Amino acid sequence: MKTEELDPKDLETFLEFLSFPSVSTDGEFEKDVDACADWLVNRLQAMGLEVEKHATRGHPIVVARNPHKKGRPTVMLYGHYDVQPVDPLELWKTPPFEPSVIDGVVYARGATDNKGQLLAHLLGIEKTLAEEGELPVNAILLFEGEEEIGSPNLDPFLAAHASELACDVVAVSDTGMVGRGIPTFTYGLRGIACLEVSVSGPKVDLHSGIYGGAVANPATVVAELAAGLHDAGGRVAVDGFYDAVQDLAGWEREQWAGLPDGDAATLKETGVPALFGEEGCNSYERRWARPTAELNGIGGGYQGEGSKTVIPREAMLKLSFRLVPDQDPESILELVSRHLKKYCPEGVRMVIAPGHHGKAYLTDPFSAYGKAAQQALRETFSAEPVMIREGGSIPIVQSFKDTLGVDTLLLGLGLPDCMAHAPNENFPLENFEAGMRLNRHLFRALAGVGAE
Ligand code: BES
Ligand code: ZN
Repeated sequence: MKTEELDPKDLETFLEFLSFPSVSTDGEFEKDVDACADWLVNRLQAMGLEVEKHATRGHPIVVARNPHKKGRPTVMLYGHYDVQPVDPLELWKTPPFEPSVIDGVVYARGATDNKGQLLAHLLGIEKTLAEEGELPVNAILLFEGEEEIGSPNLDPFLAAHASELACDVVAVSDTGMVGRGIPTFTYGLRGIACLEVSVSGPKVDLHSGIYGGAVANPATVVAELAAGLHDAGGRVAVDGFYDAVQDLAGWEREQWAGLPDGDAATLKETGVPALFGEEGCNSYERRWARPTAELNGIGGGYQGEGSKTVIPREAMLKLSFRLVPDQDPESILELVSRHLKKYCPEGVRMVIAPGHHGKAYLTDPFSAYGKAAQQALRETFSAEPVMIREGGSIPIVQSFKDTLGVDTLLLGLGLPDCMAHAPNENFPLENFEAGMRLNRHLFRALAGVGAE
């Protein structure tokens, strides 16, 4: 899409939203996250919606609604305005918080995850309100600033405000499309469980010539623990890890067989020289329907130039496990802790700190609301939607089910090369514009289903 085809005001709004460095994980950006929430509040108020900004122990939650009427379904639209950190900064071709438009694509941190997708809906709503005076549904807009850190305050907020947030269905655009122009309905997400391990040995860094061979090296220990998480067949080697894991349903296999070749896509998107993973599974199964153990960070020892002959005093691992339906995150953390303790040698001390976690999500894509959402995707992209699961996690989606009793429609607009979480994150204006139209089609289609 050419930049000129988009209303310049909408593009300006998008670039403004992207210029807030709303990095939720880093306390240094607290004021910027708050300013970003205020910006949203102002936009929503200007649209004539009733808006509340809720302070939390962390970053604010913004809730907006139109006047609700009896007999219409209540649709909650969820999104997050926080973003991931930008490092490694040196790999960005343009500054992450000075959005640039190059060949119809916007480059900035948060462009796809999740500001572009969130804002497309918001502007879609704004257009419907301007043109038609009202929305066809009762809408609740729920935007948080802590998704990228596991939504620690939204979970209790949901429980505390369950009656005000009562709705028939939730809609979220915070996932991907399998390819450009291929409307994609996501009916499953993986869960997640995070864990940090620190291992310490000697009371100070030691001369590795004087003591080497006589004391355990904490860096070697964490390397061995990390390597021991998988067996030679690419399976997670933790006892009981797969006990609750379910096979794919027959219809899913059939659906996925009709998708663009997942192995080829994975090779192309990632640039790896060969694929890896559980034997007997293809890349889509490995990425969307199988649980994993990932080493997200490993540290310890000398990292500077040249060599320094030390036995480091301590070393650490940052681990996360992607989970599939029926795996319980807390039980998995328990199994992993047991595994690490079993294989940790005597010569070091190990401290295990469980981190945030959330369950996987799986819903019926053939429900009335699911079908309506697929109709909206069909109308928006003039193509038949595909049905997939995704490997990423949005843990609050399962909380919507557990706390509010409702399903979530995942209507992703990101593309495989949008570089979510990576340098040069981007979002094509084509998808931004499609997202605005999607909102209108979606609300109309859901209104057609009625309230449950
Ligand atoms: N938008 C992603 C989730 C996502 C990405 C779903 C791609 C499907 C496909 C979300 O912002 C995210 O990154 N979530 C984190 C959650 C975690 C920090 C609790 C994730 O998946 O790592
Ligand atoms: Zn993300």
